[in-house]
Amino acid sequence: MGLGYIGLPTAIIAAKHGVQIIGVDINPQVVEKTNQGQLHIVEPGMQELLQEVITNGQLKASTTPEVSDAYFIVVPTPFKGGNHEPDISYVEAATRSVIPYLKEGDLYVIESTSPVGTTDKMAKLIFELRPELQDKIYIAYCPERVLPGNVIYELVHNDRVIGGMNEVSTEKAITFYRHFVQGTLHRTNCKTAEMCKLTENSSRDVQIAFANELSLICDKADINVWELINLANKHPRVNILQPGCGVGGHCIAVDPYFITAEFPMESKLIATAREINNYKSFWCAEKIQNAMLRFELEHHHKPVVAMMGLAFKPDIDDLREAPAKYITTRVMQSCNNADILVVEPNIKEHKVFKLTDYKEAYEQADIVVFLVAHTPFKSLPYNNSKIILDFCGIYKK
Ligand SMILES: NC(=O)c1ccc[n+]([C@@H]2O[C@H](COP(=O)([O-])OP(=O)(O)OC[C@H]3O[C@@H](n4cnc5c(N)ncnc54)[C@H](O)[C@@H]3O)[C@@H](O)[C@H]2O)c1
Repeated sequence: MGLGYIGLPTAIIAAKHGVQIIGVDINPQVVEKTNQGQLHIVEPGMQELLQEVITNGQLKASTTPEVSDAYFIVVPTPFKGGNHEPDISYVEAATRSVIPYLKEGDLYVIESTSPVGTTDKMAKLIFELRPELQDKIYIAYCPERVLPGNVIYELVHNDRVIGGMNEVSTEKAITFYRHFVQGTLHRTNCKTAEMCKLTENSSRDVQIAFANELSLICDKADINVWELINLANKHPRVNILQPGCGVGGHCIAVDPYFITAEFPMESKLIATAREINNYKSFWCAEKIQNAMLRFELEHHHKPVVAMMGLAFKPDIDDLREAPAKYITTRVMQSCNNADILVVEPNIKEHKVFKLTDYKEAYEQADIVVFLVAHTPFKSLPYNNSKIILDFCGIYKK
């Protein structure tokens, strides 16, 4: 259920390993494209595999479920409202749509990143509507931790955490994942498995927040944060991450809220890390605006500003929740669209931003703002005649 960035590759890899798969998505265009053997997501190597499993009939896509032996819920779990409450309505809708097809001996697994207790909630819903299935089906939670761009390898080789509602459910789910996972399958209960996924991403968020906080302190203290972190990491038991212009993407910037919304009193560090990482983006925007004002006062004309990068991390084309996109938008709105050149070498065009080639933008700009450490930017020679705001360590020295 759900043929997106995670569900579709999972369906393809399982099909490739001999499992007969019906891929269900409520979006008819996704279903149509998939059945035509056309990959609707970007993932290296996946197009060829899709074509193969569609051609040999191992995978077919549909807008509605069919009777199966195992059901996997891989739909979005965003947050909603000012308090960042997790929105599990997609998980519930997908679950409701498979409930009529469930039969004795079936396996039901949630893979979507979910707040603690979601699997229990869905089990309750299933047994409310189908009480005769109580103790007759297997229910488990198995989170996904693949890195987009390396999905073919990671789906097969990563270790996975599998948490059943009871031990037999865990074993049943393990038997399924053994079809294609070569990594170790770790047994636990569903609540621990749910929390494990949230913990992994919150851990990253907290560690990045520490680096970002250091960058704010170092800016005030006039210390090179990159040099500082490099030196501190010479300690055998210290491993500080690199600061940047915030935290983006649809996982690390989202999942910690699934903990803070439910455990607000206890999750002080996790909540503060979210605030620090959000604040860092706001701070970067302020820094740019100040630099622009100072330039105008000194030169009596507005500067040309190059915003280098829009993606949420280096060398990808994914702009979801990207701090660089937020900062660029904020700066453009605050300066009446002065001469801002927007650069993102990993995409050809954007419906909001007019894109400029990175070398051309660097050449033309009075102020160059490095927002994302894309590899091509690192070959640009440092130019003393420009004001350079390097938020992502292009010129670490
Ligand atoms: N993308 C990642 O890198 C990643 C990594 C780990 C975990 N996750 C988690 O995996 C889950 C899925 O993420 P994604 O990136 O694949 O999302 P996505 O938005 O790419 O795809 C989700 C798909 O589900 C479909 N859908 C929505 N409601 C449906 C329903 N009721 N029935 C059938 N299909 C339905 C949508 O049309 C969409 O095609 C999320 O919980 C996410 O947090 C994502």
